[in-house]
Amino acid sequence: MSELNNIALKIIEKGKGILAADESTGTMTKRLDSVNVPSTPENRLLFRETLFSATSMTECIGGVILYDETIKQLSSKKNKIPELISNMGAAPGIKVDTGAKALAGSLDEKVTEGLDGLRERLKEYYKLGAKFTKWRGVYSISKNYPSKLSIEANAHALARYSALVQECNMVPIVEPEVLMDGEHSAKECYEKTSNVIKKCFEELILHKVDLTGIILKPNMILSGNKSKDKISNEEVAKLTLECLKNSVPSEVPGITFLSGGQSEIEATENLNLINKYNNTNFIMSYSYGRALQQSALKFWAKDIQNIDGTQKVFNHRAKMNTLAAQGKWSKDLEI
Ligand code: G3H
Repeated sequence: MSELNNIALKIIEKGKGILAADESTGTMTKRLDSVNVPSTPENRLLFRETLFSATSMTECIGGVILYDETIKQLSSKKNKIPELISNMGAAPGIKVDTGAKALAGSLDEKVTEGLDGLRERLKEYYKLGAKFTKWRGVYSISKNYPSKLSIEANAHALARYSALVQECNMVPIVEPEVLMDGEHSAKECYEKTSNVIKKCFEELILHKVDLTGIILKPNMILSGNKSKDKISNEEVAKLTLECLKNSVPSEVPGITFLSGGQSEIEATENLNLINKYNNTNFIMSYSYGRALQQSALKFWAKDIQNIDGTQKVFNHRAKMNTLAAQGKWSKDLEI
């Protein structure tokens, strides 16, 4: 087993998942604005440190994705944030893309940037303690989108990123996110997600990426948030499994879903059903941002010094998702 494969498997062992706390300062400011907390570096750190020092970090969270600001901050006890995370038993990770920008040639679509100077930035993050990284490609669905151009441009970038990350001995999280915004049906989401993922693997293989040393972070197969054609959670799980079974090479050790705007309970319930019906060899877990943090953020905003109370809320969500990653969750466990 390669070192990268070991890191990947450890992050998702025994129902553990990933806490995506890599919101850029702009996105984090929107989140903090929504609960009326000023978005200062101190407040961003306080909320995140509260999560990183919660007990569920040891039991449920195998990895944390950080943003550039956070990986360089010191905790209230003057520890380096990656050390705090490793001491809790989880792997520190880092988002390394620099965001999705308008794609020349198809300006309503996006291509993710950040390849320039990436090798040097990766070396720095590795020294700071990062064990894995994240890069998110983003695709919207409409009649003509995602276009061939956007599928190819993003797959190419994801592959070049992954090859550089493995060269630097870290595990790349490959995140092609097909957005749920729109009126599309689940069938369209299935077809378009499948094309996107297949192209990503074609490029990853071309760029000689070791597939046993990556984690795939896809969307689930859902109908659009403005679609009239809603499907059941069972159908979401079955379509998601079928799509991934047909598009992901068997060497890939694990798949950790993004929540993508699903509610906390929906994201947990769908993950649970995916694991109940899992007829693949892939470990299926979570890499949630909003679906792990929303309730904790709302609770914390009422009194930002209430660390214990906030951690309790976060611990519950992490526990529920870790049960779901083993197909052991049920609604009556929710409080
Ligand atoms: O890139 C997206 C985040 O890492 C996951 O966030 O679960 O809120 O979609 P989300």
